[in-house]
Order: sequence, then structure tokens, then C-alpha cells
Amino acid sequence: MSSLALVTGATSGIGLAFAERLAADGHDLIVVGRTQDKLDAFADAHPHVKVRTVAADLSTPQGIDAVAAYCADEPLDLLINNAGVAHYMPLADLPAGKAREIVNVKVLAPTLLMNAAVGGMQERGKGTIVNIAGMIAFSGPAGPEVMPRRAVYAGTLAHLVTMSQTLAAELEGTGVTVHVVCPGIVATNFHAAQGIDASAIPRMSTDDFVTGTLRGLELGEVVIAPGIEDRTLLHAVFQADLAAFAGQSPTLATRYQSN
Ligand SMILES: NC(=O)c1ccc[n+]([C@@H]2O[C@H](COP(=O)([O-])OP(=O)(O)OC[C@H]3O[C@@H](n4cnc5c(N)ncnc54)[C@H](OP(=O)(O)O)[C@@H]3O)[C@@H](O)[C@H]2O)c1
Repeated sequence: MSSLALVTGATSGIGLAFAERLAADGHDLIVVGRTQDKLDAFADAHPHVKVRTVAADLSTPQGIDAVAAYCADEPLDLLINNAGVAHYMPLADLPAGKAREIVNVKVLAPTLLMNAAVGGMQERGKGTIVNIAGMIAFSGPAGPEVMPRRAVYAGTLAHLVTMSQTLAAELEGTGVTVHVVCPGIVATNFHAAQGIDASAIPRMSTDDFVTGTLRGLELGEVVIAPGIEDRTLLHAVFQADLAAFAGQSPTLATRYQSN
């Protein structure tokens, strides 16, 4: 029996690579992006599977609702929340409209698409949700000399990591699994689109990134990091998170007590 996957941001880069791999593996697809011509070209190039195209702008409530309706009404086996923009900029310079766009595309849209899809997946007792975040989610402690100015984008990726981990635990035993994938730098137009030349930086191919993600799903990893060789690095982060979480107390910490 064929399975059905919905991929957002399927018109280029990582999302297109996922859609191509899934089509090659025989999955029917619902492909989402803003550019109808590119979606149509994808459907024309993959006649051996059923491809439906949804042109929607996930930075708008209407666009999110339109895609959420597919997530609620269609028996999705796989939801890949991949669409993204970054708009690297110091916060004071970031126009409010661009801040809203980042948060809508990277936080609100994935949240509402998961919200729409998860009930049906639970009823069917199966389903896989994949959120594309990034290693920048772990970069919060970095100093200004290391980090370009991109606080809003970094925050959205951290949201995806924490929400995916928490939802994965919430859905344990239901047959529905949730995963978050953290690219380092992948060879797409993502950086060039914002005027950043990343071509000199070693980048993972989209093909390797998709292969790593699919293998991570097989391994049952909630946080999948295709560019991290030493998985204990991630476990150390999670253990430190849990230790800090467990270290809280109702007693005011000594260093905060007035002199
Ligand atoms: N490349 C990297 O190094 C890297 C690193 C870390 C994380 N990521 C994450 O990976 C994801 C994919 O990025 P990519 O590298 O493949 O970039 P990309 O080639 O620029 O692709 C971005 C995709 O998102 C879609 N999109 C953007 N805004 C949208 C909107 N308002 N509504 C609907 N679709 C929208 C685009 O489609 P249309 O233009 O057709 O709308 C396009 O298909 C992003 O979420 C990004 O945060 C990438």
C-alpha cells in the first residue's frame, strides 16, 4: 500500500530533495510552496506517484489554514515541516513584517500543521512528523564574535527542538513519532537568498542530508543531527538540560538574596 507524505517548502533545496526521494521510493505526495510553477514542474516530473500541489504562503493565516486543512483531512503517514526563511539581521534592524514572517513560517505554521495532523495520526495509530530545525538551535550560549545577528531565527529553531522533544514524549506508545532534524550548513540557496555567500564553507549535500534523516528515523532518534559524528555530544546536552531542570527549587538561590 502506498503512503502519503506532505512536504512544505518542496520547491527548492532540502524540501525538494525530500520530495524527490519520497517520490522515488513510491510515496504519494502533497507538495507545498508559494511557487505554483515549480510545484507543477515537480508533479509533471513524477508521474509514477500521485502528486497534489498546494500553493500557499505559510507566513499568512490563510496559507497556514489551507495547508492545515490538508493535514486534518488527508490520511498523512508523514508530515515534513521544512519551509523556512531566516532574514539574518540585528533585532533592532529587523522590520516587524520580517520578524512576523520568520515566526509564522518556522513556528506558527509547523505548530498548527502538527496540531491539525496529529489527531488523525493517533486515530490511525501511525504517523511520522519531521520538523526541520538547525544546529543554530544549540548556539544560544555563543558570544557575539561567533554569531551573526539572527536571534529570531535561532529562537524559532530552538522552539522546534523543544516542541518536538516534548511532543515525542507526549505521543509515546501511540504509534505516532515526532522527530526534529538539525542541519549544519547544507548546499541550497538558503544563504544566497539572503545575500550571504556560503559557497566557500564546506556544506553537506541535500542528498546526504535526506539520507541521514531517513536513517535517523529508522534508528528512532528524536533529535537527528546528520552532521554530528559523535552522538554523545547531543546526549550530553540533553543530560545537562535535565540536570538544570531538576535543579530548580522554591528557595531563592543564595546569589539572588539581597545583601
Ligand atoms: N540550508 C541550510 O544550510 C540550512 C541550515 C539549517 C536549517 N535549514 C532549514 O532548512 C529548511 C529548508 O531550507 P533550504 O536550505 O532548503 O532553503 P531554500 O532552498 O531557500 O528553501 C526554502 C523553502 O521554503 C519555502 N518557503 C519559504 N517561505 C515560505 C512561505 N512563506 N510559505 C511557504 N513556503 C515557503 C520555499 O518555497 P517558495 O519560495 O516556493 O515559497 C522553499 O521551498 C529551512 O526551514 C531552514 O530553516 C537550512
